Amino acid sequence: MSAEAQEIDDSPYCCCSAATFREILERQRAQPLPFMELLMVHAGCGSGCGSCIDELEQYLRAHDAYIED
Ligand code: FES
Repeated sequence: MSAEAQEIDDSPYCCCSAATFREILERQRAQPLPFMELLMVHAGCGSGCGSCIDELEQYLRAHDAYIED
């Protein structure tokens, strides 16, 4: 895979956060937070529909960015 291809953000989009999982991951890397706090601070899932929380958790785990509450 080329460097350019890796730049493409094809991660799922969370409407409630108005952000892609990739953007949420980048916020989490800049300021690591436990998952429940992440949902409120880095994402809008805590006050949103919550429908992508399970998927977001899996995404963060897969990228070594998941912190247990
Ligand atoms: S779409 Fe992500 S919490 Fe609603």
